[in-house]
Amino acid sequence: MTQIVGRVPRGHVVRAEGKTKIIWVRIRKRKKRGLAQNKPFVTAGDGKHREFVPGKEIAVTETTCNIFRLLNRSGIPTHYHKKINADTYLISLLDMIPIEIVVRRKAFGSYLKRNSHEAEGTTFAQPLVEFFYKNDTMSDPMMIWQPEHQCFRLYHPHEPPEERGAIGDLKAGLDPLIPRNEAEIERLEVIAIEAFLVLEEAFKHVGITLVDFKIECGYDQDRRLYIGDQIDGDSCRLWMGGDKSKAVDKDRYRNIVKQGRVPTPEERALIIGDYQRIATMASSFGLMGL
Ligand code: TMP
Ligand code: ASP
Repeated sequence: MTQIVGRVPRGHVVRAEGKTKIIWVRIRKRKKRGLAQNKPFVTAGDGKHREFVPGKEIAVTETTCNIFRLLNRSGIPTHYHKKINADTYLISLLDMIPIEIVVRRKAFGSYLKRNSHEAEGTTFAQPLVEFFYKNDTMSDPMMIWQPEHQCFRLYHPHEPPEERGAIGDLKAGLDPLIPRNEAEIERLEVIAIEAFLVLEEAFKHVGITLVDFKIECGYDQDRRLYIGDQIDGDSCRLWMGGDKSKAVDKDRYRNIVKQGRVPTPEERALIIGDYQRIATMASSFGLMGL
């Protein structure tokens, strides 16, 4: 369902619409580039819960543009070209790999549900990479590579894999965008870890611990790999001074929803304040000489 709340870019049509952003392409042009426009909504539970948070679209655009600029400058390829206006930026259009690539520095979130023996907040010496298959009906299952079968097996994202066992297989060749061998998996892991290390360092400079993040990648027409989608307070866990009680990310909203509530006016102000705080921090990345 198209639900355009920002301005419609002239001469463009919707290519794709997600829960929090719209990708636009030019009418009658070779479609190599498009516009990504953020929407003023915060969502959780695969979009089951949704709040209209005016101003969020501006804060996350500022955040994601500064993060992508930093990654591009650091030699990590992303789809980002330039900011167009407060809620919109220019991107290369990619064939997106339907995988959420999560990198973790600390044991938190769904990792703790799958690894119940691990203490919350344990720091991993090496960032840990996990793949989740983007599939709403299966609730984004975790993907575990089976070297002997050269394919991924799927597991419930919130249960230890040994408990419920596999819930399905991703048959090799089903989707040409899914990695088919160890070399393709490694390319995704490497780009994700490199991006994580750059952002971890940048956030460290402003006193924030990057606990984990989620990225999505895609290929251009020459099958070159880029980071696509968006990186912002919805897709990163960010703790001020490494303190969980001072998180400035979407967990504030996720926790409210978990209690079966909608945010109070005071909580709404804190939610938008978090997005703005992250935007302010990210705008300093360009000044850091990183
Ligand atoms: P998780 O601990 O719930 O697996 O989340 C890990 C990271 O991925 C966290 O920074 C939040 C982010 N994330 C998303 O961006 N989208 C999602 O749908 C989920 C589940 C997590
Ligand atoms: N991204 C998912 C949603 O918006 C869930 C999440 O981030 O926790 O519905």
